Amino acid sequence: MKILGIELDEIRLPQHVGIIMDGNGRWAQKRGLPRVFGHRAGAKTVRRIVEISAKIGLKCLSLFAFSTENWERPDKEIKTLFSLLRQYIKTERENLKKNNIKLIVSGDISKLDLDTKSSLEQLMDELKNNTGLTINLCINYGGRQEIIQAVNKILSLNLKNVTEAEFEKFLYTYGLPELDLLIRTSGELRISNFMLWQAAYTEFYFTKTLWPDFTQKEFLLAIKEFQNRQRRFGKILDTKT
Ligand code: IPE
Ligand code: IPE
Ligand code: MG
Repeated sequence: MKILGIELDEIRLPQHVGIIMDGNGRWAQKRGLPRVFGHRAGAKTVRRIVEISAKIGLKCLSLFAFSTENWERPDKEIKTLFSLLRQYIKTERENLKKNNIKLIVSGDISKLDLDTKSSLEQLMDELKNNTGLTINLCINYGGRQEIIQAVNKILSLNLKNVTEAEFEKFLYTYGLPELDLLIRTSGELRISNFMLWQAAYTEFYFTKTLWPDFTQKEFLLAIKEFQNRQRRFGKILDTKT
């Protein structure tokens, strides 16, 4: 398939793409604007990337929106981020429905304010029978927190000696395809506590582009690069030499 001038092999699409959407603050700073303008512009990028993901037939898109560490930011910025999330839910509702998109959340949303939590839950419920793209919105998400809450659930069930497959049942991502590709914008070369378990064999795509500047085209180029990688999973592919 050829989209926006980029040729993709539709049989070898990644099943599940994760994005660490970083660089909103720097995008605003570069323009002499308060950080909130960067977050607002970043929300527009989310819309564009969701749209192209649905269009190419991606199964799952995980978006890192707020980490367990982001609570350390000033109160005002945290409030802005959640108000943008509520706004996104309002403005995108019909679009998500129309495009057959399903929404799930990874992270401990019991810590969110009631308003945000209930509007998220309502939207998830409205979209639950959709069969197209699944958006996995990672809010108050931390990879270590996810693993610890899984361990605690296992302990509370008095389970002993769980296998990897059994352990995965307690992760937020249970039922989602393997995380094939992880994109991080803004030039930082780190994982910042995202999907620690799931990223064991994920391919990484790092770009200096700040999240508000990230285009549909670059997203497709990241997928194209993924398709040119050779994944070995510890094996030797060419056994002749
Ligand atoms: C990503 O952009 C958004 C969140 C982490 C919520 P940042 O706000 O981290 O932007 P920078 O990294 O300061 O530029
Ligand atoms: C990671 O970005 C979290 C999200 C994108 C939600 P941060 O900006 O919080 O990460 P660090 O602090 O640069 O590692
Ligand atoms: Mg950042």
